[in-house]
Amino acid sequence: MIKLDISNALTENLKKQHKRIGLYLDNIDQKGQGFYTVIDDENMVNEILKFTENVKGKYEDIVVLGIGGSALGTICLQQSLKHLYENELKMRTWPKLHVLDNIDPLLIKQIQDVINIEKTLFITISKSGGTPETLAQYSYFRSIVEKNNLDIKNHFVFITDAKKGFFRKVSNDENVVSFEVPENIGGRFSVLTPVGLLPAALIGLDIKKLLKGAKASRDLFYSDSIDKNFPFQIAAIQYLLGLEGKSMTVLMPYSQKLIRFADWYRQLLAESIGKAKDNNGNTVNVGLTPINALGVTDQHSQSQLYNEGPNDKFFIFIKVNNFGADEEIPMLNDNSAKYLKGVSFKKLMHTEQEGTIKALTKNGRPNIILTIDNVNEETIGELFMLFECATAFLGEFFNINTFDQPGVELSKNITKELLT
Ligand code: PA5
Repeated sequence: MIKLDISNALTENLKKQHKRIGLYLDNIDQKGQGFYTVIDDENMVNEILKFTENVKGKYEDIVVLGIGGSALGTICLQQSLKHLYENELKMRTWPKLHVLDNIDPLLIKQIQDVINIEKTLFITISKSGGTPETLAQYSYFRSIVEKNNLDIKNHFVFITDAKKGFFRKVSNDENVVSFEVPENIGGRFSVLTPVGLLPAALIGLDIKKLLKGAKASRDLFYSDSIDKNFPFQIAAIQYLLGLEGKSMTVLMPYSQKLIRFADWYRQLLAESIGKAKDNNGNTVNVGLTPINALGVTDQHSQSQLYNEGPNDKFFIFIKVNNFGADEEIPMLNDNSAKYLKGVSFKKLMHTEQEGTIKALTKNGRPNIILTIDNVNEETIGELFMLFECATAFLGEFFNINTFDQPGVELSKNITKELLT
């Protein structure tokens, strides 16, 4: 279970804000979003597990073609729940996973140096089926599969809208296996649908545990008690501090496994809350700028700014009690690092995190600390749902549409116009 410490960020107005939890929850519910109900969908889980079982041993490489919300959750799942050098391990039980979330021509070319095309499954993910990057990637890799005289049906799977879009049509016309992104779930909220769960299952992750963790956070979200409702607490603090000029949120996990979680959250916060208009049509141009940082690495890159630069940031720290390893630091022969005597890497990591938090607090920089015991399927599921629900509350506080992305659509459309 996640623990939350907000004592370094308490704001006077938090109490006023929480009186309206019920109202905000009703407003969110009325929007009919599916990200917190899809986790009960047992058919979805069974279909994914059945497919995974059917293809067991068939593929050496899984390549995800997709971008934004179609890729970031999967990248996070791999980084946080597999070996940190998973794709370089010689002894393997599960296929290697590669997520192509860019169209840099070199990336497109060089991926081919590390995959065995005859034993590759391309999971093509696009909710809309109209994203130029994903269409281009699909077209390219499809032609390679065809040039190798391989059957498309054995090498492609689509995850897309149930009825609409290009990939739905190809799936229907050519009988290619497909999974659905529910209509009421947008890309950045879709990690706990086949978008994230299918690649996760194919690399051996326990998707039922992911969903179990997500349900635990949903229970918190449904609570009208401020003490239990962590998503509400996080969002309210973030919002109230935002009004006081802390317009940036730094998410800083102290865990190598969680750096891609911060990437995932960056999109969630930026695309959901950065909006020109409020729900009444007024121009508001609101947003909170997400910043990723990794402890301890970024202490030696960002800490100076965070401590002494503009006081415009709110910090969310993630502390992990057990890293899954606790290597001792052997003593050096001279006395120059006596303070390391008897200290393990775990202890050093925790102490540096404490030092960073204390320094920021001393400098009046508001921060909260989320603590988990271990990084595993359940806690990752909890974290995904916690931040999704917090983001939904934030949208209510700002009175904006959390779930659209007109700015992204505009640039997609301009790109298409420029190319025609
Ligand atoms: O959150 C979103 O909606 C976006 O970031 C999308 O995930 C991204 O633009 C890709 O869209 P699609 O899944 O339709 O290809």
